[in-house]
Amino acid sequence: MALKDWFIRLSLLGHWITSLGIPPPPDQVQRTVLFGNINAFAYYFAELLVGSPQQPVSVIVDTGSALCGFPCEDCGHCGQHLNPPFDMKKSTTSKVLPCGIGCDRCIDGKCGYLESYTEGSSISGLWFRDLVMLNGSDQDNQPVFASLGCHTDERKLFYTQKVNGILGLAPHRITGKSNVLKDLYQDKAHVNHEIFAFCLAEWGGLLTVGGYDPSFVVPGHRLQWLPMHAAGYFGVTLQKLSCGLQVVGTQLDFGTTVLDSGTTFTYLPEQVYNALLTALKTQCANIQCNARAVQDNCWEIVSGADPTRFPNVTLELANGPNGVVAIQWLAHAYMFRRKANIWCYAFANNGMSKETVLGISFFLHQTVVFDTSQSKLGIAESKCPESHYQTRSGRPAQAVREGAVQDGNFKPSDVLEGDDLVPAKPPQRMRWVALALGIVGLVLLVVACSMCLWAYFMDDSDEELGLKSPFTDNEQ
Ligand SMILES: *[C@@H]1O[C@H](CO)[C@@H](O)[C@H](O)[C@H]1NC(C)=O
Ligand SMILES: *[C@@H]1O[C@H](CO)[C@@H](O)[C@H](O)[C@H]1NC(C)=O
Repeated sequence: MALKDWFIRLSLLGHWITSLGIPPPPDQVQRTVLFGNINAFAYYFAELLVGSPQQPVSVIVDTGSALCGFPCEDCGHCGQHLNPPFDMKKSTTSKVLPCGIGCDRCIDGKCGYLESYTEGSSISGLWFRDLVMLNGSDQDNQPVFASLGCHTDERKLFYTQKVNGILGLAPHRITGKSNVLKDLYQDKAHVNHEIFAFCLAEWGGLLTVGGYDPSFVVPGHRLQWLPMHAAGYFGVTLQKLSCGLQVVGTQLDFGTTVLDSGTTFTYLPEQVYNALLTALKTQCANIQCNARAVQDNCWEIVSGADPTRFPNVTLELANGPNGVVAIQWLAHAYMFRRKANIWCYAFANNGMSKETVLGISFFLHQTVVFDTSQSKLGIAESKCPESHYQTRSGRPAQAVREGAVQDGNFKPSDVLEGDDLVPAKPPQRMRWVALALGIVGLVLLVVACSMCLWAYFMDDSDEELGLKSPFTDNEQ
C-alpha cells in the first residue's frame, strides 16, 4: 500500500518535471504539443522541424488525408502564414524527387502532386526528401528522412489559413506508399509501435507517436478498444446514436463513418442530425439543462459557465460481429464555447449524403489511440493538457482567427466571430507554481531517500553508530 502511494507520488513528480520542460526519459514514444481551438482556429496543429539546420513549420494534424506539405520559398501563389516558407536552398539535406515509378505528376523531370480537399481548397507542388522531426524536448523526438510536399500553389483555405501546411496522418489506399508517419515508424530505436494518439483539450493538446500517454485518462475510466478500418481512411462502424435515453439514429442511417481530425465539426446525415436537434430541444426545454436557447444552435448557460447539465450523447460503435462499445460524447465536446457562457453545437448536417464524419468535436477530451498495425482504435475519456499558442515574437496568436475546416463542407462564413475569445496568454503563473512544487518535490524526494538509506543502515549496523556505505557491505 505504501509502495503504491510512493508510486503515485513519483508519477506526480514526473508530471512536475514534465511541466518544468525537462524532457521525459526515452520510452520510444515521441511527443509534441498541439495548439488550436474549435472557435478560434477551427483546427489543431503541431510544429515540425524540417531540414538541416532545422526550420520550423506549423501543420494541421489531419487524420483525413495522407500528404505532409507546406509552402516553399519560391511559391507562386501562397499566403502569409505563422512561419516563413520553407527554404530548400538553406537545407543541406534537401533533395527534390525525380519522376519515377509511383509518380503520377511529372513536371520537368521533377515529381509533383495536386491535392484537392472536399471543401474546395487545393494545394500543388513538388515532392522533396529531407529530415523531419516533431518539435519537442522529448528525447525520442529524432529527425528521420521523409518525403514531403513543397507547395508552389495554395488555393482558398490553404491560402488564407494562418498555419503553414498540413500533416496528413491517414493511411494511403495503396499499401506500402509512404507518409511521414510511416517514416517515423521506421525509426525503431525511437518509436516502439505503429501507434499514434491525440489528446485534445479545449485549447491545444498532445500528439504522441509510437504509443500513447495514459496519464490523462480520467480516474475510473480506461481505454476501450474497437476494430478500425485503416486503408485509405480511418473508419469505424456506427450502430446507434442516442441523446440521453432517446435513440436518434440506428445502423442503416450512418453510412461510412470516417475519423477526420481535419474536419472541425462532426457531420451527421440529415435525418440523424434533425432527430438529435429535436431531442436536445425537448430534453433541455424549460431551463432543464440550466441553459436558455439563443440564436440558432446555441445555448446560454444560466448559472456557471459550462454545460454540465446537458444530456450525454452516446455513440455505439461495432466491436466485432456482435459486440458494441459505447462512447459517451459529453456536452463540452458536442458543443464548443463561443463566448464565456455561450455554447454552440459542434455537430452539423451532412445533408443527404449517407456519410458520417467524426471530426475534432468527437475527439475532444478523449485519449484517442490509432493502432495502425493492428487496425484498432482506443478511446478513453481524458483531461487533456492545454496549451496556448504564442508566436515567436511573443505576440499571442489572436490574429489566427479565420476558422474553417480542411476536409469538411463547413464554410468560413459558418464560423462565429470570436471577438471575446479567451485571450491566448501563457499560463505564466502556473509555470512558477509548477517550478516551486517541483523544487519542493525534489527536496522531499532527497530527504525521503536519505531517511530510507539511513534507516536501512541503522537496521543492520548494530555494532557501529556510523553510517556504513552500501559498497563496503562485503568487506570483512
Ligand atoms: C516546440 O517545442 C518546445 C519544447 O518542447 C516547446 O516549448 C514549444 O512550445 C514548441 N513550439 C511549438 C510551436 O510547437
Ligand atoms: C455522462 O457521461 C459521464 C462520463 O462518461 C458520466 O460521468 C455521467 O454520469 C454521464 N451523465 C449522464 C447524465 O448520464
